[in-house]
Order: sequence, then structure tokens, then C-alpha cells
Amino acid sequence: MNAVPVPQTILTRKTKQALFLVLTIDDGGESAVRDLLSDLPSLARAVSSRAPEAALAAIVSIGSDAWDRLFTGARPRGLRPFVPYEGEVHTAPATPGDLLLHIKADQMDLCFEVGRLAMDALGDAVTVVDEVHGFRYFDLRDLIGFVDGTENPVGQAAIDAITVGDDDPAFAGGSYVAIQRYITDLGAWGSLTVEEQEAAIGRTKTDNVEMSDDVKPSNSHIALNVVEGADGEEIDVVRDNMPYGDVSGTGERGTFYIAYSAGPDVTEEMLRKMFIGDPPGNYDRLLDFTTAVTGSQFFTPTLDFLEDLPDPPPADRVATSERSEPDAYRDHAADRDPATPPDRPTDGSLGIGSLH
Ligand code: HEM
Repeated sequence: MNAVPVPQTILTRKTKQALFLVLTIDDGGESAVRDLLSDLPSLARAVSSRAPEAALAAIVSIGSDAWDRLFTGARPRGLRPFVPYEGEVHTAPATPGDLLLHIKADQMDLCFEVGRLAMDALGDAVTVVDEVHGFRYFDLRDLIGFVDGTENPVGQAAIDAITVGDDDPAFAGGSYVAIQRYITDLGAWGSLTVEEQEAAIGRTKTDNVEMSDDVKPSNSHIALNVVEGADGEEIDVVRDNMPYGDVSGTGERGTFYIAYSAGPDVTEEMLRKMFIGDPPGNYDRLLDFTTAVTGSQFFTPTLDFLEDLPDPPPADRVATSERSEPDAYRDHAADRDPATPPDRPTDGSLGIGSLH
């Protein structure tokens, strides 16, 4: 084990393509999944070495319920199921997800190849919840026509934003990652004037300049997505969203949202402000045109962790009857005052008490 754990390659330049696979682990599939966790880095290296210029990266992350089926020992402190939000108008659902494969490169053939090798290795150990092929759209725009990713932190700030530190030494160097797939009503969005669209986002459309605070509406997407810590400093996440979609018929198209962070609470707070509103009722105007259809939360362990996995739990601990999957995905938002953020672990606990 290295002194400083080596993270998986999350921070790359923005690639042109990405393949997202959200999987659940079938009963008895744990062993095959453990094998893939160990093998994925070398599979990705084997494919990447055939086209190094394409910046291939394959990142694997593990969901809260799956963790205890795969490993004994400590859990990442912040690992808990995705917190769903039910606002007055819009809902962010929690949907199943035990494993997330985020495969990105400038060429879809490389993403496809890693995804294919991984799925071949997994065989019938998993069920696919969602497979999304994302693509770069012009100058890094979403399908709504706005540049996405501008305010992402870069360099050391990006590393700091996504890296678990000494507060959870057993998992230092890891990250948390949240995903949501959104379906966008491009017809309704296109019926807005450009000025109305800019007011919904908080930036100009063509030249991508942020509106000044006295002009930017309080229900614009970027006004609601600023989260500050106790010291008043903004807390960042690193987003790697991708447009996706079908062009024909009633084909689904929109944004695959994915954000890495040093803890799950930053994204939770952003989602609370977007869906419940800040103040409550003042929800994100963008949501009137785009609908979240999935939502899952994962932990992204380091390469060192993948190389030297903790022991598996005894077979009887992963018996189906002892799992509470349906409960983990029910709407926990109904259990608490929608205006307040979810419980935060302040005591060093797992912080999952109210979620089960
Ligand atoms: C359909 C889904 C979404 C679309 C199309 C979208 C699009 C955008 C665009 C165009 C920007 C402005 C440029 C930039 O800084 O990247 C932006 C900013 C941002 N978005 Fe989203 N976004 C979506 C979902 C989300 C979600 C679900 C979250 C958080 C949970 C989020 C968090 C942020 C943050 C933190 C910023 C930067 C705010 C700032 O500091 O200015 N976005 N998004």
C-alpha cells in the first residue's frame, strides 16, 4: 500500500464521449463484482494503451447497500443512499444503483470496448438499471444550448473538492459521486425567448457570461446552486455532465448529471435548493423543462483499495432476506420537513440512521 492512496482517474480534461452504466448486483453476483473491481484498472489500461491520445478513464463506484454485500470492515463515513427530494412542483427520485461505471474518452469505441469487457466479465452477476451514451455537443453545451461546466473548479481546487481527507483516514483519497438522468422537453424550452432561457440559467447563452447579482433571478439555476460552508466559502463539486439522447419519435434526450465531491452533503444541499427551493417554493426554473428520472449515490474508492479489497462478508450476511432494498429507495423526503436539509453526520457516525 502506498503512503498516499492513489485515486482513480476522475479528473481528466473534458472528453468528447462518455458511457455511464448503472448496475444492481444480483443475488450471488458479489464475487464476480469483486473480481471486476480488481480487474477494471488493468482492463482500462489495456484498452487505453491502444489509443493513448484519447484520454480514456474508467471509474468504478459502489452504492451504499452494495458496500456491505461486498466487504467486511469499515464503511466510508458519508456513504448513504441517494436522498430523494419532493418539492411542491418537482421531484428528484432515488432509484436503484449498486455500481456505477463512468467510462470516458474522446472516442466512443474505447468507451464501448471497456464497457463490453466489463459487462462480459460480470455476466449474469448484475442487472443493468441504466446505460447512457453521452456525447460532446458543440462547445461543451447541454442540449438546452448553454455551456455546461464553466464554474467547475480546476487544478488543486478540483482535487480538494472531490477528495476525502483525514476526517475519514481509512477512505482518504476516495470521492463521493451522485448521478441523475434528466429528460429535457426541448420543445417547451425552445418556445422560450433567449432572454427567458438566460434568466432560467443565470448566464448569457451565446457568450456564456454570468449575470450580475442584481440582474440574476433568485430562481435561476446558478443562483440556487451556490452552497457555502460555515466560513462563507463556496463549496464546490466537480461536474462531468454529458448530453445524451435519441432523435426520433418520442426519444428521450437530456442531460446525464454526474458530480464528484468530498462528501455527499454538498450535492444534497444543491438538490434541496433546486427542488424544494430557497426559500422553499423558490425552486430552480430549469426544472420546469427538465425532469429527473433517476438518482443514485456512490463512493469511489482509491486504486489502492481496488488492488487490495477488504475480505468479503460471510455468505449468510448477504442473504436476500437480510437486505432492505425497497426501503432504501422509498421516498425518505416524506419523512422529514422538506424545508430542512437531510441529517448530517456530526458525530463521526455513518449518518445513515434516518435513512433506513
Ligand atoms: C438537466 C440538468 C442540468 C443542466 C442542463 C445543467 C446546466 C448547467 C449550466 C448550463 C450551468 C452554467 C455553467 C456552469 O457553471 O457549468 C450549470 C451550473 C451549475 N450547475 Fe447545473 N445543470 C443541471 C443539473 C444540475 C444539478 C442536478 C446540479 C446539482 C445537484 C447542478 C449544479 C450546478 C452547479 C454547482 C453549477 C455552477 C454554479 C456556479 O457556481 O455558478 N446542475 N448547470
